[in-house]
Amino acid sequence: MSKPRLWVTRRLSDATLERAARDYDVVINHDDTPGTAAQIIAASAAFDAILPCHSEHFNAEVVAQLDPRLKIVANHSVGVDHCDLPALRAAGITVTNTPDVLSDATAEIAMLLMLGAARHAVAGDRIVRTGAWDSWSPAFMVGKQVTGARLGIIGMGRVGRAFAAKARGFDMDVHYYNRSELSPELAPGATYHATVDSLLGVADFLSLHCPATPETTNLMNAERFALLPQGAVIVNTARGALVDEDALLAALQSGRVAAAGLDCFKVEPGGNPAFAGHENIFMLPHIGSATRQTRDAMGFRALDNLDAFFAGETPRDIL
Ligand code: DGY
Repeated sequence: MSKPRLWVTRRLSDATLERAARDYDVVINHDDTPGTAAQIIAASAAFDAILPCHSEHFNAEVVAQLDPRLKIVANHSVGVDHCDLPALRAAGITVTNTPDVLSDATAEIAMLLMLGAARHAVAGDRIVRTGAWDSWSPAFMVGKQVTGARLGIIGMGRVGRAFAAKARGFDMDVHYYNRSELSPELAPGATYHATVDSLLGVADFLSLHCPATPETTNLMNAERFALLPQGAVIVNTARGALVDEDALLAALQSGRVAAAGLDCFKVEPGGNPAFAGHENIFMLPHIGSATRQTRDAMGFRALDNLDAFFAGETPRDIL
């Protein structure tokens, strides 16, 4: 029997590409440029499966033009806001993602951003690097202590829980908002809040871990920033869509928010140029899941889903 034809849209880890080439009639985009709408539509007529990243957009307009040959979109990401799931389902296309395997790597970046934002990492690095470090005093670069502080987590899924576990290592007092309360085994010692607004009132540190959906777009807006304790620190490793960036800038300027740690932006790649002059914003270019181990695990999880699908089974991560 001939192997299914698979289009891999980006340069994934070597181990992933080797396995894909072994098991599929695969075409890999070695140029590693994001797949355009036109490329996705053309690929749908030539491939049975596409293995994309969050950089390829399967919006309603694209999905409407897909060829019926395409049977499965096996995402190399946990977030699927780049996919119009109802449209894909209506077109009879199976969609999967890669949960679990990136939770620790992403939680590590959330911890890095929280610590870096709280302790002036951007300004500190700059003054040492540029030779501008010419004095020291007890009042110099005084930050906000993380250990023992109250932490609010919005979205207590796998990444939120991995972050809570790391925060417990800093003796943080963990509070969370989630659509439903978790069992004490899943959220040990954490305090549940039934509303986002209730959580914000105690969130000296706030970390976002919910998916981007129409309901969560601009979840953190001007009204919500005003509910935070004065001098709060906000961290976003989820999606840029969750934060009204103008409202964040206003909250930073007023001091309501002392600092922010951001791995995600409304516009990616690129970010928000208006953030550049603010050293109390510690920024990274969407690298939450970017460790070697996690990239292999994401690639293998996507291939596991494809293998199950083409074996006539239900993929583990079907959406
Ligand atoms: C994810 O998996 O959603 C990460 O943001 C990388 O795409």
